[in-house]
Amino acid sequence: MIKQSYEEIIELEAERQKHNVELIASENFPSKRVLDAAGSILTNKYAEGYSGKRYYGGCQFIDMIETKAIEDACTLFNCKYANVQPHCGSSANQAVYKALLQHGDTVMGMDLGAGGHLTHGHKMSFSGQDYNIVSYGVDENGIIDIEEFTKKLNEYNPKMVIIGASSYSRSIDYKKFRDIIEEYAKNHNGDKPYYMVDMAHVAGLIAAGVHPTPIPYADVITSTTHKTLRGPRGGLILTNSEEIIKKINKAVFPGIQGGPLEHIIAAKGICFEEANTEEFKAYGKQIIKNANAFANEFVKAGWKVISGGTDNHMFVLDVYGSIGVTGKQAEEELDKIHITLNKNQIPNDELPPLKSSGVRIGTPAMTTKGWKEDKFIELAKIMMDYLNECKNETQEQNREKYINKVEELISK
Ligand SMILES: Cc1ncc(COP(=O)(O)O)c(C=O)c1O
Repeated sequence: MIKQSYEEIIELEAERQKHNVELIASENFPSKRVLDAAGSILTNKYAEGYSGKRYYGGCQFIDMIETKAIEDACTLFNCKYANVQPHCGSSANQAVYKALLQHGDTVMGMDLGAGGHLTHGHKMSFSGQDYNIVSYGVDENGIIDIEEFTKKLNEYNPKMVIIGASSYSRSIDYKKFRDIIEEYAKNHNGDKPYYMVDMAHVAGLIAAGVHPTPIPYADVITSTTHKTLRGPRGGLILTNSEEIIKKINKAVFPGIQGGPLEHIIAAKGICFEEANTEEFKAYGKQIIKNANAFANEFVKAGWKVISGGTDNHMFVLDVYGSIGVTGKQAEEELDKIHITLNKNQIPNDELPPLKSSGVRIGTPAMTTKGWKEDKFIELAKIMMDYLNECKNETQEQNREKYINKVEELISK
């Protein structure tokens, strides 16, 4: 039995978040405005349906909230249509499959091991179970293998292709994939797959103008709102096609969801508003500068970083290939000195997912806390020293020293 009250446990988690260095690439610290909306009385309201077409009375203010959030999403990403109801990124992706495909249709997505997401076709996800998945990966330099992508596109004639990833550290040329699809269409009587982009990880960077935008090129774009975008935990779907948004709206409700989370939709709207500011642009720039400085420190010391560096908010460090410590060990050991990150497979990993050769490292959360390059450089040194202690099995007797160093860095 857990003895503490819920409030006490929340306080414990708040303390953990305060005293740990948060490097999970998909996490962030939203503003008080976002948190207040997410915890507001809007949670009391049922509002199945869409603005002006609800299945419940008393929705006049809810309609204003949802319409405003849609307007703010469209303004931020320069897009015509948005659905802000998906409860999370996976639901957003599920809705796209449901809207545009039949079970058994062929879909091309990035392999999980290469950096893709479970919903891009993993066999344990609805995507891999209900659809015929053809995976593509990265080349020997860790860059999306365009040749393989093009070859498989022509060989398997998918109904939809998904571009986007959970652990890919390079900029993505969305126009290039549109060009490849148009070239394919020329040889197939104009037939072409739907082009879906999952920008969950880089949405905040796109909003800040520091990563290419997929909006002019993709048929449909999905996202989460809680990663680099720094909003509440939730999903988002964008498109410029009236035909597609109609299908998406039906797929989200009543297709896969019931009542929308209007408290979260209000918080999403606030995050879209906040992301449309000069301050957020500066934040996006700083995320990338920090990731670069951080990754380079490992590279300079001869450690292996997948693809040799980063263009965005994260990178994957091959700890096993660098010093023989597994991703799992690194995750657990670094947690003991108050550094939080997650193990991550590297492309063609020889270790299974629960061990993994790598760790994924991201800078969005600590950049929100005001960290600049100098702190990340110092942190990289602490991490390398401590992981070397792990390799030499001397970490236990020296752990206190490292905890103090991390604490000092946090309080600087
Ligand atoms: C690329 C990508 N798409 C979708 C998702 C799913 O988001 P959620 O965890 O909100 O379902 C993630 C989450 O990590 C992701 O990285």
